[in-house]
Amino acid sequence: MSLSSLAAGAVLDRRDPVPPGYVAPPYYPTPHGGWVSEWSESYRKASLLVANMTLAEKTNITSGTGIFMGRCVGNTGSALRVGIPQLCLQDGPLGVRNTDHNTAFPPGITAGATWDKDLMRRRGVAIGEEFRGKGVNIHLGPSVGALGRKPRGGRNWEGFGSDPVLQAFGGALTIEGVQSVGVIATIKHLIANEQEMYRMYSLVKPGISSNLDDRTMHELYLWPFAEGVRSGVGSVMISYNAINGSAAAQNSYLMNGLLKDELGFQGFVMSDWLAQISGVPSALAGLDMSMPGDRNEIPLLGNSYWMYDYSRAVLNGSVPVDRLNDAVTRILAAYFQMGQDQNYPRPNFDTNTQNAEGPLYPGALISPSGVVNEFVDVQGNHAEVAREVARDAITLLKNQNNTLPLLRNASLKVFGTAAEKNPDGINSCADQGCNKGTLGMGWGSGSARYPYMDSPIDGFKSRGSNYQYFNTDSFPSNSSPSPNDTAVVFVTADSGENYITVEGNPGDRTSSNLNLWHNGDKLIQDVAAKYTSVVVVVHTVGPVIMEAWHDLPSVKAVLFAHLPGQEAGTSLMEVLYGDTSPSGHLPYTVPTSESNYPASVNLVGYQIGQPQDTHTEGLYIDYRHFNKESITPRYAFGFGLSYTSFSFSDASISAVTPLTAVPPSRPAKGTTPAYSTAIPPASEAYWPENFNRIWRYLYSWLEKNDADDAAEAANSPTKYPYPAGYSNVQTAGPAAGGAQGGNPALFDTAYDISVTVTNTGARAGKAVAQLYVQFPQGIAVETPTIQLRDFEKTSTLQPGASQTLSLRVTRKDLSVWDTASQNWVVPSVNGDYGIWVGSSSDSLSLRCGTASMTCAGGQASPV
Ligand code: NOJ
Repeated sequence: MSLSSLAAGAVLDRRDPVPPGYVAPPYYPTPHGGWVSEWSESYRKASLLVANMTLAEKTNITSGTGIFMGRCVGNTGSALRVGIPQLCLQDGPLGVRNTDHNTAFPPGITAGATWDKDLMRRRGVAIGEEFRGKGVNIHLGPSVGALGRKPRGGRNWEGFGSDPVLQAFGGALTIEGVQSVGVIATIKHLIANEQEMYRMYSLVKPGISSNLDDRTMHELYLWPFAEGVRSGVGSVMISYNAINGSAAAQNSYLMNGLLKDELGFQGFVMSDWLAQISGVPSALAGLDMSMPGDRNEIPLLGNSYWMYDYSRAVLNGSVPVDRLNDAVTRILAAYFQMGQDQNYPRPNFDTNTQNAEGPLYPGALISPSGVVNEFVDVQGNHAEVAREVARDAITLLKNQNNTLPLLRNASLKVFGTAAEKNPDGINSCADQGCNKGTLGMGWGSGSARYPYMDSPIDGFKSRGSNYQYFNTDSFPSNSSPSPNDTAVVFVTADSGENYITVEGNPGDRTSSNLNLWHNGDKLIQDVAAKYTSVVVVVHTVGPVIMEAWHDLPSVKAVLFAHLPGQEAGTSLMEVLYGDTSPSGHLPYTVPTSESNYPASVNLVGYQIGQPQDTHTEGLYIDYRHFNKESITPRYAFGFGLSYTSFSFSDASISAVTPLTAVPPSRPAKGTTPAYSTAIPPASEAYWPENFNRIWRYLYSWLEKNDADDAAEAANSPTKYPYPAGYSNVQTAGPAAGGAQGGNPALFDTAYDISVTVTNTGARAGKAVAQLYVQFPQGIAVETPTIQLRDFEKTSTLQPGASQTLSLRVTRKDLSVWDTASQNWVVPSVNGDYGIWVGSSSDSLSLRCGTASMTCAGGQASPV
């Protein structure tokens, strides 16, 4: 398409063909929210307000007031007459971004590596308390997409690991925690935003199209979103990319169909920042809130697809007022659902500056100034939960000759710049856009400023360790190895968001590949050549290739400390010195080579027109692929050692809800608020008299003549060219829906499994029981060899002590998405499902069978 046709506003035509078979069918209208009982009261309260709001008040709520036009990264308009303030939206998933006196929690990938549900929830509560304390209404996290399909994808570390169920528990428990203190959580990014390059639509190029089939959509990418909706999440952020050729922010199949009808989502959908590329189509497709409000091509000019143009679109009849009413009701219902009408704090910080005073609207050329940062300390005792997450995520991969734990007086030589704080300052790089010093998080909007960094060297110091530190990534000539030394080498791999390039990596690990940064391989090799006992500590965003050094005879121990946030030091010391046994497990597979992966998960490079990213591997990502192709990784998904050992025994299985091939019928939708569908009078959108406008600020009012012209146009015979398949008649909804998350029967427990875990070693420790389902042999549909469905972590078990864990599998866990009937189907009701329990995806010897209803240990692992 030529630039001139774009300039003429042909934005909707920016669809390149996608490969055959990948479709985003039209799905209209947007289902009204309010039909599930858990939200009835909030919808009742919201509808009382909405019924009394003017058109301009309503459109003002659905959009940000412009980029850099307020203290938060997103600031909606207000409706003060009915008591609704501007709402503050702020990043990110690991804590409050761009502020002070906050906690820099370990990111999602680290929480995922703990495999500890209770800790995931407690981390969420602490994060929520900090957002509330700063006056943030809407927390822009958790992230469960990127799912982690591409090992080099830049933002995988913001989420919980490369498996839909691990992501689902991580996301849902975080949401529960955050929302328990009254903050609206935002699950993001819907959906399949699996790489950073080409993610956004621009004037010259459409964003990348993630092309995925219906079954892959349901069984992998949508799964964690379904669980997030089931946990009552208040908001969903739509991704930048297209799905099957249709931009997420105007993809009616995605928002109206999958999210709001099938998953029964009751909250509101916001765009990612500048992901909205149209006005009317995005509203009709189910978008409820435009962020930060500006048009995407050239923000900052004070132009919006919505705000004043939404008012115009309702007056001229192109967007039914019914759609606007639903969007506003959804936003206000989420506000009431979290109790934000009761003493909710106003923002007391400014994401744009660290100064106490500054412009109130930095995006305006001339802005009034005032106090913008009040330096409110929201840290409470959150460092404790942050440290616990960092510690319990540490994943011990290799430990020959019991090299670890270290003896209290061990003589240590410590190497690598990553062991100590960034010498330029722990927050010297905006949004952590550099890899210098201890790596506590990746970069981008998912970062936060460190209040402090407890570095590994701080940890050695405060423990009074016997160590000598060489703050270099090249092997120093003066380290004087002695036979009693243990060398500890710190290495890293980093990634982040696309708007910052670090050491040649534009978000994704484009140039570093899966290698260690800063010649880490060489440093380890050099150290290993001179020292006989080497411990390698890896701070990483995801899998790294370790083949150059892993099997060297002196490399005795390897630990992934993931991304520890501010609590890198003490957490690591507690594990290195054995106060605590390591209990983390890998939230992804570690390969031996990048060629282990299917070619389709490589980063997509430049393509003429819309970059096409076709998920030809379907369900087979991460361990599902390795198992299918019988590729032995370096370390399997779920792997992690301890200083002690555990046995799994006395397993039993009991049937709870009998399976049927198709789930019982869904409940019907409940009633939703009813409003007048008449187009409101033009006067509801007129500018107020004598209003002092701020240049570039986005307002929802129209000049009187514009409003009158729009109202006049409503009578014109020329109608808006609605998308194919458009309808404004509410429907009963799909069979697979029925409640938040889908048909409630999908979440019926089919089987309870109980297993006794015993500490059979000599030290205290915690074990993780991972439950994988193997579908029955001989069914008509192909399924991955095994799939994670549940997990539990023990409390600390003393040597000899036991704990019985309860796990469960649901109807959905035993179903496949049947594309023909558009429902979850149990492929073999009486078939023999293998329910495998063990400590890792490749170490499963305990099998419960649903045919015999017995469990037995000592079985040959399916992998
Ligand atoms: C873009 C990112 O993709 C999203 O995750 C973030 O919340 C927004 N920017 C706001 O910073």
